[in-house]
Amino acid sequence: MATLSAALAPYLLWLAAAFAALLGFLLGWEARAWALGKRQRQKTQRFRRAALKQCRAEYQQRLALLDDLSQTLTATLNYQRVLDLALDVAMRALSPQNDAAIPLVCAVLLFDDRGILRVGSARRFTPADMRLGLEATRGALARTVEQRTPVHVHEPSRDAELRQIIALHATRSARLYPLTTGLDVYGVLLYAHPEPDFFTPERVELLDFLGKQATTAIQNARLYHDLEREKQRLAEVEEEARKKLARDLHDGPTQTIAAIAMRADFVHRLLEKDPKAAADEIAKIEDLARHTTKEIRHLLFTLRPLVLETDGLGAALQAMANKVNQIYNQNVLVEADPQAVEKLDSTQQTTVFAIAEEAVNNARKHANAAHIWVRLKLVRPQIALLEIEDDGVGFDLGSVSTNYEYRGSLGMLNMRERAEIIDGHVEIHTARGKGTTIRLWIPLSPEAAERLRRGELG
Ligand SMILES: Nc1ncnc2c1ncn2[C@@H]1O[C@H](COP(=O)(O)OP(=O)(O)OP(=O)(O)O)[C@@H](O)[C@H]1O
Ligand SMILES: [Mg+2]
Repeated sequence: MATLSAALAPYLLWLAAAFAALLGFLLGWEARAWALGKRQRQKTQRFRRAALKQCRAEYQQRLALLDDLSQTLTATLNYQRVLDLALDVAMRALSPQNDAAIPLVCAVLLFDDRGILRVGSARRFTPADMRLGLEATRGALARTVEQRTPVHVHEPSRDAELRQIIALHATRSARLYPLTTGLDVYGVLLYAHPEPDFFTPERVELLDFLGKQATTAIQNARLYHDLEREKQRLAEVEEEARKKLARDLHDGPTQTIAAIAMRADFVHRLLEKDPKAAADEIAKIEDLARHTTKEIRHLLFTLRPLVLETDGLGAALQAMANKVNQIYNQNVLVEADPQAVEKLDSTQQTTVFAIAEEAVNNARKHANAAHIWVRLKLVRPQIALLEIEDDGVGFDLGSVSTNYEYRGSLGMLNMRERAEIIDGHVEIHTARGKGTTIRLWIPLSPEAAERLRRGELG
């Protein structure tokens, strides 16, 4: 044993030195690895910070863009301008580099009075596309309108209705947004692109946001536009009423007063030759003068029926009937349901009175009728009906309507225009020898107005 120890003694020293060297190497390695790891961690952190900064910058850029776009959209109330802007902002949002060549096809489609979708504004539509009318009863358009939610379309050129749009033939994907107000859909926003996967979640999010903004902006501009049109129409109705009054004065009282003057002149000459005949003639002049006074009073009454303001529509219709009975010896019978009268606001009452007055005067002047009936009643929930019927000669509505522009008469035109002011609808039923019935359907709520607009009468 002692010999073995003595033999190993020189190696032990070597072994201890080797062990110490290995330990030193391992410790150095660990320290280097630790230093390297630290550098790596610092690098990753720097990278993360840079990425976060870029993300924040992009986010802020996007916010600024969205803010800018929504401000652009709400900056004007000009209807056509808003429609154009709704498309421009989408183009700008989807092409942040302002790349004008982005092949996005887009359009604002709006329902017309007959429920047909017409192009309000579009980008990349062909001239034929611009003239299209779509029913929105099939395919993706119908789904958008029925569900009132955005709809994604693969291969729009294969859609039942969208395929009528030539500009969509080169596209592979599309998104449709309903333009809504309350429960109503008044149009559809359409975006389409040649790439099948163009509408990424990020772009969809952007379009969803802009779609909502555009809906509000278009609706506001539409209301403003309607208001302006209404003002214009009121001014036209006023203007026509003035023209009609001038003509009524010319045809009625002016003629009779001229006749009175002529007869007075005649009486002058008769006085010496035949006093008895002169006295008879004076009596006739007196009658004529009285009649003319009544006629003028009647004109003034129809121009501004004070009784309408003080006692309401029922009393005004009755007063008008009494006057026509008195002055023209014409039998007019009024049946106005007080419950229906109560439901009409003052604009509706004034309009109903003006239309009834014109229809009664027409029947008196042209129908040679034994009776004229004026009825006002509630017919359906939220719809009232004014009916003026006569048992006179009737007329050929087709030929009167075709020649209307050349007739120089305004009565029936006025009736229709006044009806439009209260969202009402005028119907004329007549035939030669069968009398005439004029109907005015009066909506008592926006929903009823919408039903009338769609032609759902009574
Ligand atoms: N109830 C009716 N019975 C028979 N014919 C009618 C009746 N209502 C209208 N018409 C015919 O329709 C035409 C057009 O009517 P409208 O009220 O537009 O004009 P007008 O009464 O001739 O003139 P204005 O009303 O401008 O004084 C009349 O000229 C008449 O020939
Ligand atoms: Mg008339």
